[in-house]
Amino acid sequence: MAQLKITRVAQSKYDSVNWDDLKFGYYFSDHMFVSDYADGKWNEGEIMPYGPMQVEPTLCTLHYGQTVFEGLKAFRAKNGGANIFRPIMNARRLVRSSEMVCIPPYNPEKMVQDICELVKVENKWIPSQYGQSLYIRPLIYGTGNFLGVHPSKTYRNIVMCSPVGAYYKEGINPVKIKVEDVYSRAVKGGLGAAKTAANYAASLYAGTQAQANGYAQVLWLDAISREVIDEVGAMNIMFLMKDELITPSLEHGTILAGVTRDSVLHIAKDWGVKVSERNISIDEIHDAYKSGRLKEVFGTGTAAVISPVGMLTYKGEDLIINDGKIGEFSQKLYDTITGIQYGEIEDKYGWNVHVEF
Ligand code: COI
Repeated sequence: MAQLKITRVAQSKYDSVNWDDLKFGYYFSDHMFVSDYADGKWNEGEIMPYGPMQVEPTLCTLHYGQTVFEGLKAFRAKNGGANIFRPIMNARRLVRSSEMVCIPPYNPEKMVQDICELVKVENKWIPSQYGQSLYIRPLIYGTGNFLGVHPSKTYRNIVMCSPVGAYYKEGINPVKIKVEDVYSRAVKGGLGAAKTAANYAASLYAGTQAQANGYAQVLWLDAISREVIDEVGAMNIMFLMKDELITPSLEHGTILAGVTRDSVLHIAKDWGVKVSERNISIDEIHDAYKSGRLKEVFGTGTAAVISPVGMLTYKGEDLIINDGKIGEFSQKLYDTITGIQYGEIEDKYGWNVHVEF
């Protein structure tokens, strides 16, 4: 690999950060990686100061949303350096998302190399408190200026970084989730499995209404029958019913193939837990709740890690899960995943990409 060109900032923003209260996606580090696509290929790219970019009002992405993104994290490792958690999975998912909105693929191995180089340059931005990390956000968008509805011929790939704390203000404490029975996020044959702006735009209205009523987010049901559970939007959803861990399957193409989702399924299988990826109806959850079989509910996501659900509200009825407390299983999963990420417990799956600086 050719050495990337690196242009450093004249003045770092590091000292303006409140490291004790990072929030999520609020601060941005000094540098970003940028690569452009033209004449049928991506260029090598370079690392440069993070900052505003000029765009024309006719930028096709602003009108038609031809854009995809990813979210992954780097952790300050216990014995020095940093661990980037499963970056190849994100880079490969970005290719699948790109395909769904006609964006040319960015080589996943090259993306992992770019990310490693950027993390090295931004190493001081990896926070050191437990629960904090450097969130890495690759973004690809069409850079053409036109008004006809067709794919762009040119694109930009930017990788930016944000030192973050917990995604929800609740941290690992249980969140309240409203089961959404009016609005829809995704439909079979649509873009639900792609990490593209349209899915998040589609979630804003229902999410805002739920938040105004004290919920952290909504749980989406399938758009046709409104019976089968999809995902939360910012995270996948899992149910511990007696001794079985159940999560919606990926087969309908309406939910995102989460990296944390995959990690949890691996770990749970390793622990000897029965794991099922299948259709789950909201009625099944309701019945399991009534009969006492529903033990724990939690969301999984890069930003949210493991987010226990303390209450699910469906058609006005509140289902209080595990007395509204963090479940033993959710806590153990959180401890295991974060333990691997921070290099505190053995990474027996080989998930971390370690960088030294
Ligand atoms: C993530 O977990 O990385 C997400 O993409 C969730 C959200 C911040 C968009």
